[in-house]
Amino acid sequence: MPSSSAENTVPKSQHSSVAPPDGWKEKLLFAQAFLRNPLDVGAIMPSGLALARAITAGLVPGAGKVLELGTGTGVFTQQMLAMGFDPTDLILVEQNPGLATNLRKRFPGSTVLQTSAQALDVHHNPMLSDVTATVCGLPLRNMRDHEHRQLLEATFKAMRPDGNLYLFTYGLKCPIARSTLDAHHLGSALKKVVIKNVPPAAVYCISRRAEPEPGN
Ligand SMILES: C[S@@+](CC[C@H](N)C(=O)[O-])C[C@H]1O[C@@H](n2cnc3c(N)ncnc32)[C@H](O)[C@@H]1O
Repeated sequence: MPSSSAENTVPKSQHSSVAPPDGWKEKLLFAQAFLRNPLDVGAIMPSGLALARAITAGLVPGAGKVLELGTGTGVFTQQMLAMGFDPTDLILVEQNPGLATNLRKRFPGSTVLQTSAQALDVHHNPMLSDVTATVCGLPLRNMRDHEHRQLLEATFKAMRPDGNLYLFTYGLKCPIARSTLDAHHLGSALKKVVIKNVPPAAVYCISRRAEPEPGN
C-alpha cells in the first residue's frame, strides 16, 4: 500500500491509479543512467516530494492534457496522480531508453514518448496539441541556447494559448536566457524556492506575455 504523505491526502477511490513512490530499484536505475551520462541526466538522484509538490502546484486535475518533459523515474508523475489527475491525461517524455521502459511499466495508463523533448512535433504526434500545461524536469543548465529555443518552440506549439511551462533549476536564476524568452514573447516568474530538495531548487513559471492592445 502506498505510504507517502502525498498519497494520504488522496481520496481512497483514487489510490488504485497511483503507483507506489520511487523504490530502491528506481533510484538505482536513475543513478546508473546518471553515471553513464551525467550531463544528460543532470542529477544523481530523482527530485524529492517537496519539489514535486512545488512544480505541480499550479496544475488543475481534470483541466486537460499535461506534458511532462524529462520524466526520469516519474516523481512528478506520481505527484500528479496523487493530486487526482487521470493517467490518460499525462504525456511523459523521456529520452533515456531504460528510464522510459520503467515508466511504461509504472504508469501503464499514461503515454510514454521515448524521444528528445526538442524533437516533439504535433505533425508526427497529433496528441501533442491542446495541452493545458507542461512540467519540465530537463537539465536545462546543461543545454545550449539553441536547444532551449527548440524546446520552447515545441512546447508552446503543443499548448493552449494560456498554457504555462513549469520548470526547476538548481541555479540562482532562470536557466533560460532573457533574450531567448523575449524572442518567443515569453516571460518568467519565480514561483518557489524549495530548500528541502537535495540540492535546493527553484521553480519558475514560463508563460506567454500579454500582447499590447492595438493602438497602445
Ligand atoms: C534532472 S533529471 C529529472 C528527472 C525527474 N523529472 C525528477 O525530477 O526526478 C532529467 C531527466 O531528463 C531526461 N532528459 C535529458 N535530456 C532530455 C531530452 N532532451 N529529452 C527528454 N528527456 C531528457 C534525463 O534522461 C533525465 O531522466
